[in-house]
Amino acid sequence: MQKEPNPAFGQGPIPGASKEGGLDGPGPSRSSGFPPRVVLATANADKAAEIAEIMGAVVLVPRPEWVPEVEETGSTLEENALLKARALLAATGEPSLADDTGLEVDALGGAPGVWSARYAGPNASYDDNVAKLLAELNQIESRAGGNLDRRARFRTVIALAFEGGDEVIAQGCVEGWICNEPRGAAGFGYDPVFVPEEGDGKTFAEMEASEKHALSHRGRALRALKDLLGA
Ligand code: IMP
Repeated sequence: MQKEPNPAFGQGPIPGASKEGGLDGPGPSRSSGFPPRVVLATANADKAAEIAEIMGAVVLVPRPEWVPEVEETGSTLEENALLKARALLAATGEPSLADDTGLEVDALGGAPGVWSARYAGPNASYDDNVAKLLAELNQIESRAGGNLDRRARFRTVIALAFEGGDEVIAQGCVEGWICNEPRGAAGFGYDPVFVPEEGDGKTFAEMEASEKHALSHRGRALRALKDLLGA
């Protein structure tokens, strides 16, 4: 088992934002403070970097190479986050953190939602998914004579699983809309087409990392988790 923290992790925390998402969990409140080490389920380097930036002082350990990726077979973000956190805990015996994120687009009835990573197919790239999203919206817009409600939101659910069965779940959400063309080179995934409502019209991909984290679903979920843990 890999015991050393990833040197890419451990950057300073960002200022807290006021609107954190709701949170709950079957486990007791953990007022004794955050566990010193947390193993991360994600193999997505973009996500891991964001989590590290937001979590600050917590020692985050990447998923050991010998632990296989868990198939996301749940039908909700919460189910998938719990599946991943529990599998990692079972494999490592260490507090394990997993997140699952979905982009919900109102004009698409909430799609791609829990299937956001695979929207354009099982091996879809970020660009493939963005292209499919824009193509779907363009089609609906032209059928509707140029009028389209482009409202959307990112939702993240984070699960932290401890030995002994305690589990804590936190979530974060950011409202916004899907713009017509990709803009910006920062971030990842659907960032170039998502404009948060509370921003100044920029997409997440046009923002500095700290600006994105202050508003983002993941930033909110992680800060909610830290509050819940008294960290
Ligand atoms: P996952 O299942 O949590 O890995 O996330 C599903 C997909 O949502 C990812 O493959 C990305 O395309 C997208 N995604 C997750 N988080 C973000 C984000 O912060 N910005 C943009 N897209 C994201």
